[in-house]
Amino acid sequence: MKLALIAVLVLLCGGVAFAVVGGGDVTMKNKGGTVLFSHANHVDAAGLKCSVCHPKLFKNAKQHKAVTMKDMGKGKSCGACHNGKAAFGFKDNCKNCHQQ
Ligand code: HEC
Ligand code: HEC
Ligand code: HEC
Repeated sequence: MKLALIAVLVLLCGGVAFAVVGGGDVTMKNKGGTVLFSHANHVDAAGLKCSVCHPKLFKNAKQHKAVTMKDMGKGKSCGACHNGKAAFGFKDNCKNCHQQ
């Protein structure tokens, strides 16, 4: 009985993990205000492959936390695409990404 329950729980958790796109919604806290990055919007809606971002642009939280907006202007982190060409630019659109 106990074993069956554990099996069901494992199955349920597995199912939830598969329903999430990539890394799911990632909250990035920083001085400009919290940023919510949506994998669903980038992978499903914008049609981007994982390899466009991983591992070059985003390896782990430590790596991206070191990125400043100035670095973004040089094409790092979100700035690789959010340059006003591939996607909306970061310069006039702070609130698209930062929640105050
Ligand atoms: C548009 C860029 C982009 C694409 C495309 C993308 N990711 Fe991510 N991913 C990110 C960012 C940004 C983070 C958060 C930064 C970090 O912690 O590395 C992240 C984090 C993750 C994480 C860690 C989640 C966490 O909570 O720390 C996993 C796992 C992941 N991505 C898997 C995937 C997979 C699988 C795909 C393809 C289905 C994918 N990603 C596509 C940008 C992207
Ligand atoms: C590989 C290219 C790429 C990278 C890297 C990337 N984006 Fe995007 N992003 C897009 C595209 C393409 C769209 C859809 C077109 C548009 O909105 O301009 C988009 C849309 C968005 C949107 C609007 C849709 C939504 O999710 O609400 C937000 C916000 C956003 N990106 C935030 C970010 C943040 C924050 C990062 C960095 C952590 C990031 N993006 C990195 C390509 C990228
Ligand atoms: C495309 C999404 C996006 C847009 C648009 C954006 N930012 Fe950011 N910003 C981020 C992310 C993500 C970080 C954290 C660095 C990282 O994780 O890569 C950050 C970090 C910061 C930081 C802390 C690091 C530093 O540079 O001092 C400040 C301050 C900031 N942003 C201000 C702004 C302002 C002001 C604007 C508008 C002119 C803006 N941001 C537009 C995504 C964005």
